Amino acid sequence: MPTPTEKLKLGWIGTGRMGYEMAARLAKGGCDLAVWNRTKAKAEPLKKHGATLANELEDLSSRDIVFCMVSTWDDVQEVMAKMLSGGKKPRMVVECSSISLGGSAELRRMLAAKGVEYLAAPVSGNAKVIKAGKLTFVVSGPKAAYEAARPYLDMMGTGSSYVGEGELARIAKICHNVMLGVVIQSLSEVTILAQKAGMPRHAFLDFLNKSVMGSMFTRYKTPALVNLDFKVTFTPHLLRKDLDLGLDAGRHFEVPMPLTSLTRDLLQTMIGHGMSEEDFATLLLMQAKASGIDLKPENVEVGDGLS
Ligand SMILES: NC(=O)c1ccc[n+]([C@@H]2O[C@H](COP(=O)([O-])OP(=O)(O)OC[C@H]3O[C@@H](n4cnc5c(N)ncnc54)[C@H](OP(=O)(O)O)[C@@H]3O)[C@@H](O)[C@H]2O)c1
Repeated sequence: MPTPTEKLKLGWIGTGRMGYEMAARLAKGGCDLAVWNRTKAKAEPLKKHGATLANELEDLSSRDIVFCMVSTWDDVQEVMAKMLSGGKKPRMVVECSSISLGGSAELRRMLAAKGVEYLAAPVSGNAKVIKAGKLTFVVSGPKAAYEAARPYLDMMGTGSSYVGEGELARIAKICHNVMLGVVIQSLSEVTILAQKAGMPRHAFLDFLNKSVMGSMFTRYKTPALVNLDFKVTFTPHLLRKDLDLGLDAGRHFEVPMPLTSLTRDLLQTMIGHGMSEEDFATLLLMQAKASGIDLKPENVEVGDGLS
């Protein structure tokens, strides 16, 4: 694991599924890390890795770099305004949640007015991917700020891609998650087709995963698709938010996105059926229902490609 050359004081906002694992990697790496989460109990276990817990968001404003990983732009806006309300300011904010271009630009203006450097740094990977050390970042903002934050980004995964100034990272992340949505729907369709034609899901996915179409994503989703374990990694609501961000961006840049529109409606249908508390991969169950199949777990041990 790479180590930063300069020991900066880090702050962390948001220890949900993603934020917790990301902060844990910094704490385990020996960083001086102060953490705040709205539900404090969720951040408590980070103490055993050496992190300290902040009682108030304002306590983080005296750190050098503050990372933020919450849910939506509204949440980001709320926590940032609160953190800066005490008059102090960090040197830099690295915002990692998946938010809109407009929200990110507004945050840049808000932080610039206070003289705070800002990197947009959304991520690819789920909590399991972070644990496996395979998280990736896409980053935009001032290059010098990126170089200062880079060692910490490297500690949280396999590295980062710097894509330029401003909010470019947001569009890269939106494109990425649009593809995630379309791919899980497509994977559900072909997996159900293969099953209805007579083969077990694990056999079909074994072939697909070994082929040129296989990916880290198709492999780590395979245990869920085979054994129907839909413990949440990413919620249907968060995926819908990202598909909506993609459709908004398509409208803004005048780009037709027919597959995204269709996938968004299929996801909405699933949410409308009350299927919103489990993982977004329950799109498989919707596809099975639409195909007249009653799915059963295959109870076959399949790898997730992460270990
Ligand atoms: N899960 C994934 O696979 C994945 C992958 C890539 C990117 N993302 C993105 O990463 C972000 C976090 O996702 P997640 O899966 O970690 O979500 P999550 O488990 O629901 O965690 C959300 C976090 O945000 C906090 N939060 C939400 N609203 C808040 C508010 N108004 N004020 C203060 N704190 C607030 C929550 O605090 P509480 O604990 O108090 O609720 C929690 O710490 C999202 O933007 C998501 O789209 C997720």
